[in-house]
Amino acid sequence: RLCAAGHGVFVNPALVEPFGLTLIEAAACGLPIIATCEGGPTDIIGNCENGILVDPTDHREIATAIKKILVDRETWKRFSGKGINGVRRHYSWSSHCDQTLKIIDTALEETPAAKASDMSVFRSLGHRLTSLKKLIISDIDNTLVGNDQGLRELLDLLAANQARIGLGLSTGRCLQLTIDVLKEHAIDPPDILICSVGTEIYYGKKRTMDRGWQQHLSHKWRPEQIREKLTGLDFLELQEPETQRQFKISYYMEDDPDLLTRVHQALRSDRLRYQLIFSHGQFLDILPYRASKGRAVRYLSYKWGIPLQDIMVCGDSGNDEDMLRGDTCGVVVANHSRELSHLKGRRNIFFSKKEYAEAIIDGIRKYGFIEEE
Ligand code: GLC
Ligand code: MG
Repeated sequence: RLCAAGHGVFVNPALVEPFGLTLIEAAACGLPIIATCEGGPTDIIGNCENGILVDPTDHREIATAIKKILVDRETWKRFSGKGINGVRRHYSWSSHCDQTLKIIDTALEETPAAKASDMSVFRSLGHRLTSLKKLIISDIDNTLVGNDQGLRELLDLLAANQARIGLGLSTGRCLQLTIDVLKEHAIDPPDILICSVGTEIYYGKKRTMDRGWQQHLSHKWRPEQIREKLTGLDFLELQEPETQRQFKISYYMEDDPDLLTRVHQALRSDRLRYQLIFSHGQFLDILPYRASKGRAVRYLSYKWGIPLQDIMVCGDSGNDEDMLRGDTCGVVVANHSRELSHLKGRRNIFFSKKEYAEAIIDGIRKYGFIEEE
């Protein structure tokens, strides 16, 4: 019809054109194009060969181009046909996807070995995690460690069942201090490490970080404002620099509910979003409102498709509380701190009469996590 109606040509003489969607639309309708040589159209005409690039400030050049296309029927037909085919080849959804995948493939091939092996860690670990029947997530200090004989017994039990049961360790310690304690007790790297009170998640021997979790936590996290609001409170003492993390601000504080209220008051005045966790009668952790050991466990359950009912969590102190509550199978060691006493009698929280790792073994039996022969 366009041809019968005496052709037609589409002109885009923009001073700068980042891409040129209108050019693609015109070309898809069979109109030859005349386009600014500034920006995206160079690519479009380069790919489709369906028109002429012009200097947008030169009206003579534009006029000459229009005339050439409209007067010369052959040129019009050639540009029109090439436009229709070229847009389909280069700018349709399917070609766009093909192109994108090709670029990703090349980028992956070119990534340094370290990054590529990150991918393979994720692939093999992902495979393992999604095929597990059960997952045990235990706190480290005063839960997993504290009694060497119990610990060895537990590790042997887990090694014998390692195809079915995964192990995650969840701790207030930062990654380095976690590695130190694992070394000290000769504990092999577990499947999952949840460090810094649930604010960092790592996988496997290589301790590949879960970036998705970091991204999730960053929502409404304003650490500078929080620190600033709390500088006036002289009963707070900042913990050592290595314990201060991207998503964790930690203080020492006396065990006194009134002082905790004052911390809340200071932070609430500015509508700051945060999570306060007090533990061992002396540690105060301030985290993003989406973070905690328990939330990290829920995230893992969702991400790897492990139902909460198949996850056993074990702990001894206040920073374990929210991972013990809910639908997981909770185990509290006999040597727990008093912050957890009020959880007694709750559904799904088993207060073992055993201490440390022996309580974890007790929990494994109680919840039927291993098939006893
Ligand atoms: C660990 C951390 C400390 C944190 C405490 C309680 O001791 O090193 O920063 O406050 O756990 O979560
Ligand atoms: Mg502990």
